[in-house]
Amino acid sequence: MIIAIVAVDRRGAIGKGGKLPWHYSADMKFFRETTTGNACVMGYNTWLTLKKPLKDRLNIVLSRQSQIEPQDFLVVLRELNSVLSLKDYLRCDLFVMGGEQVYRAFLPHIDKWIVTEVPLTVEGADAFVPGNYLEGFRETKTQQLDEGLTVRFYERTAA
Ligand SMILES: NC(=O)c1ccc[n+]([C@@H]2O[C@H](COP(=O)([O-])OP(=O)(O)OC[C@H]3O[C@@H](n4cnc5c(N)ncnc54)[C@H](OP(=O)(O)O)[C@@H]3O)[C@@H](O)[C@H]2O)c1
Repeated sequence: MIIAIVAVDRRGAIGKGGKLPWHYSADMKFFRETTTGNACVMGYNTWLTLKKPLKDRLNIVLSRQSQIEPQDFLVVLRELNSVLSLKDYLRCDLFVMGGEQVYRAFLPHIDKWIVTEVPLTVEGADAFVPGNYLEGFRETKTQQLDEGLTVRFYERTAA
């Protein structure tokens, strides 16, 4: 299963100046618990926001040009199709964890979205989820987190 996981503000913003424009520990915990034991694919810009690979997960970084130092739990791939090929050999879910370019590239391949709604409107945001990202998906459940956050789960509807 390919599952995209994202936190969005009221206008679909996800980033500002190369960073997350908020810090909610409840969402960090939810993200960690949801993705642990699985594979996570991210773009190079999102990789730069991490100090090291996410623990207890296979970290896949998409980059056409960067030279990332080889390290445990890290695979660097140059094309989306290489990620899809690798996925066939994984016995776990693949979480698409951003940023904007990577959500956009994976959109046709995503089976489920997990969306944390952040009760903010970030001024000057420069990264967003694709405008149509929930087209063809239906909401299946919601979950309340601490700090006033709501998580909504969506599944692709049958074509
Ligand atoms: N709110 C959230 O849930 C959330 C989650 C994640 C990230 N973010 C935010 O999103 C922002 C970053 O998003 P972004 O769009 O600038 O960057 P990004 O998607 O993280 O990374 C973009 C880079 O990834 C590589 N890449 C992307 N698509 C590729 C493809 N199809 N094939 C090969 N390489 C590919 C390229 O790297 P090279 O240039 O090296 O080739 C590209 O420059 C940050 O502000 C971050 O904090 C928010």
